[in-house]
Amino acid sequence: MFSLLPLTALALLSSTLAADTCNGHAELCSKLYSNVTFIGAHDSYAVGDGLADNQDKNVTAQLNDGIRTLQLQAHNASDGVHLCHTSCSLQDGGLLSNYFESVVSWISSNPNDVVTIVLTNPENLPVTTYSPILTSSGIDQYMYQPSSSAIGLSDWPTLGELIDQKKNVVAFLDYQANFDTEPRLIDEFSNMWEDAYNVVDASFGCSVNRTSGSPSAQMYLINHYLDSSYSLGGTEFWIPNKDQLNVTNSESGDGSIGFHVGNCLNLWGRNPNHILLDFYDAASNAPFDLAASLNGVSAPINTVTAGSGATASITSGASASVSQSSLKSSAMPSLNTRAGLYLGSGMIGALLLGVGRTFM
Ligand SMILES: *[C@@H]1O[C@H](CO)[C@@H](O)[C@H](O)[C@H]1NC(C)=O
Ligand SMILES: *[C@@H]1O[C@H](CO)[C@@H](O)[C@H](O)[C@H]1NC(C)=O
Ligand SMILES: *[C@@H]1O[C@H](CO)[C@@H](O)[C@H](O)[C@H]1NC(C)=O
Ligand SMILES: *[C@@H]1O[C@H](CO)[C@@H](O)[C@H](O)[C@H]1NC(C)=O
Ligand SMILES: *[C@@H]1O[C@H](CO)[C@@H](O)[C@H](O)[C@H]1NC(C)=O
Repeated sequence: MFSLLPLTALALLSSTLAADTCNGHAELCSKLYSNVTFIGAHDSYAVGDGLADNQDKNVTAQLNDGIRTLQLQAHNASDGVHLCHTSCSLQDGGLLSNYFESVVSWISSNPNDVVTIVLTNPENLPVTTYSPILTSSGIDQYMYQPSSSAIGLSDWPTLGELIDQKKNVVAFLDYQANFDTEPRLIDEFSNMWEDAYNVVDASFGCSVNRTSGSPSAQMYLINHYLDSSYSLGGTEFWIPNKDQLNVTNSESGDGSIGFHVGNCLNLWGRNPNHILLDFYDAASNAPFDLAASLNGVSAPINTVTAGSGATASITSGASASVSQSSLKSSAMPSLNTRAGLYLGSGMIGALLLGVGRTFM
């Protein structure tokens, strides 16, 4: 009997300390991280209306709009790790450490949100390259550290637990993760599978493309961005299909986010965890409304406005600071179909015509 009293007191105490809102909704606090759907920015750092850009707004604006999954591509450069798209001579989103500092700053003023980072490592840089950047940027203090390299679907913490422990950042690394050396960069494919990327037809079938585990026991991420592809000298290029953004990023109808999620539900019986989009702002609140409905919560009340890139013609790539010669000399040999290359049609046209055009 007496032992019940301290327990009750403890329960009361912990309930008063616990977060009352998680990612904008009280109902999400008790949900496992693995049971929430988040809208993500594909190539979050590739901001602009240039050749290899995928987003309109910087990471701070993305987070303010409701983006909660940030996908990044790391490349080694002389002054440190940069966020670039395929090659730093095509698109350079700056230092990873600066990007992380922006995330840290946002988290410190939004302590009731959980943000996921999906870091891709096309150059297979050793995980020890990243550890000092985690520390110097200060993001390390917020990173969730699991107790094992692979976490069962039902073993993830709830959003409320992550927030209460001030572990607001869950970070995955696609290749070269090492639990013993750097447990805060969680091995993506031991915990999550992805469907196809660089797709050019809008059928968005939702079959497994990459994993190293058993898909039905993992979370999953869908690559919901439509590309157009061009073939040049035997190399294939992918650029965002901006003409279809109003369809691709809408809630329902053929080729929409809802359509893709429906295909996934038919195959897998559960919602995707992460939905990566290009120019997520092109269809205003549609992606966020859809995620709210998948999560069983009310639609967010903020209004997402479209930036200029989402509506700009892809031929406006002439404004990007990359020269044709840099493409030919340094970027071309390093093209890598797994990382994918996104070019504006102005660039493709100039290359195809052999025009000595410089993109300033
Ligand atoms: C969360 O659980 C509900 C109920 O079991 C399920 O319908 C939904 O698909 C799950 N969502 C995710 C992202 O796992
Ligand atoms: C991000 O964009 C906003 C405008 O949307 C701007 O006010 C802010 O200064 C930018 N932040 C950085 C770090 O560039
Ligand atoms: C990164 O680049 C620097 C400068 O070019 C070089 O010294 C370093 O060895 C590279 N690191 C890796 C992991 O390749
Ligand atoms: C994964 O997707 C890539 C790009 O779309 C494709 O080239 C590759 O064949 C796919 N692999 C599997 C196993 O589906
Ligand atoms: C998308 O935009 C195109 C061109 O403006 C328009 O013809 C089409 O009806 C739009 N589709 C949707 C679903 O809004």
